[in-house]
Amino acid sequence: MAARKVTDGVMSVGILNPIMRIFDVVMRTDYGTTYNSYVVRGREKTALIETCHLTYWEQYWKNIQEACDPATIDYIILNHCEPDHSGVLAKLAQHCPNAQIICSQAGSIYLKNITNLSDFKPRVVRDGDSIDLGGKTLRFIMAPFLHWPDSMFTWCEEDKVLFSCDFLGCHYCEPHDFDTNIVYPTKYEDAFLGYYTAIFGPFPSYVQNGLAKIKGLDIEYLCNSHGPILTKGCRLESAMALYDQWSQPHHNAVKTVPVFYCSAYGNTGLAAKEIKRGILEIIPDAKVDVYDINEHAMGDLQAQLNRSDAFAVGSPTINADAVAPVWELLSHVDAITNKKKPALAFGSYGWSGEAVPNLIARMNGLKLAVCGEGLKFQFVPSESDLERAREAGRELARML
Ligand SMILES: Cc1cc2nc3c(=O)[nH]c(=O)nc-3n(C[C@H](O)[C@H](O)[C@H](O)COP(=O)(O)O)c2cc1C
Ligand SMILES: [Fe+2]
Ligand SMILES: [Fe+2]
Repeated sequence: MAARKVTDGVMSVGILNPIMRIFDVVMRTDYGTTYNSYVVRGREKTALIETCHLTYWEQYWKNIQEACDPATIDYIILNHCEPDHSGVLAKLAQHCPNAQIICSQAGSIYLKNITNLSDFKPRVVRDGDSIDLGGKTLRFIMAPFLHWPDSMFTWCEEDKVLFSCDFLGCHYCEPHDFDTNIVYPTKYEDAFLGYYTAIFGPFPSYVQNGLAKIKGLDIEYLCNSHGPILTKGCRLESAMALYDQWSQPHHNAVKTVPVFYCSAYGNTGLAAKEIKRGILEIIPDAKVDVYDINEHAMGDLQAQLNRSDAFAVGSPTINADAVAPVWELLSHVDAITNKKKPALAFGSYGWSGEAVPNLIARMNGLKLAVCGEGLKFQFVPSESDLERAREAGRELARML
């Protein structure tokens, strides 16, 4: 897709990728994605904002050439250095020898190691710094952890355009640039939420900071780096309101302690019920739901775990390890927001009993507050094993 106009001075030169289905290894992208990039032309100078994934170099280069003479590009601004936005940078630097690369302090370190250019000398900008293109001023707004430490926004006061990189973007591809043209709004909304959850969900306080920094700006166009550009009066206001809502601190009305388990012969399941009893002995009004992992959708379990105040997870030992569904659940623990959350490992075993220690090792790796030594017992739990399970539940509850 060729270069398209956003405002008189801003052209969109990005790339559509409608067939992408997995992004960054872990994110499903059911609706493809776009790599947005923009050329901003002032009277005297020209800036290119964000670049593109290396795979799409040829089309991207054509788009740039449609928007401007690349030899006239004075600045290449990287609001964020992830390779979906910086992949072509080393190549671009060769093709645009007059261009100065602009990024944040953290970005300068990352870009050096991403481009491996020996003569890499970017211009580092700080919060509030600006450059003048001649009738267009670009001001830089630091936005750390939205979603990398290097992230920043670029604000063009005259055109009322905020270049926000991944912030308020999403993996969604239609052959139009603007939110006014979205053909499948519910799919877009699904993608918008999915993107927020995966990319910004771990950083709610930073989302609040970022929103506060741009609240006073009279934004007409929010030019993000994935998905449709958001416009004033269409989706911009609601998108910002959703980010505000989703990033509010979450407090459970009562202590919420889900107990997850897998069990081939029911033994680990018996312990799960007793752990629940133990928790309720200490906190009678706690919400303690017991989940057989295989009976529920992983997405629901993931949400329960991440919103909990503490949790327990149990697995039998099968072939010297915990079982795959339990590992999968633990792979969905948000390591940033769950830090120091109390967690208990438990499970039945036959002879070697690796499941519980292996789960505890993983919990320690996630920096959870691991409850004691965990609870393991051989084959069918005896009366004293069941009492130990209740005690493990009590101990977990006492950590709250
Ligand atoms: C296929 C299979 C492999 C097993 N491998 C181990 C093992 O390596 N080490 C061990 O301690 N127990 C092993 N066991 C025994 C189980 O851990 C034991 O039967 C346990 O009580 C099952 O608990 P559950 O009823 O919660 O599934 C194995 C059991 C099965 C069925
Ligand atoms: Fe990113
Ligand atoms: Fe991105």
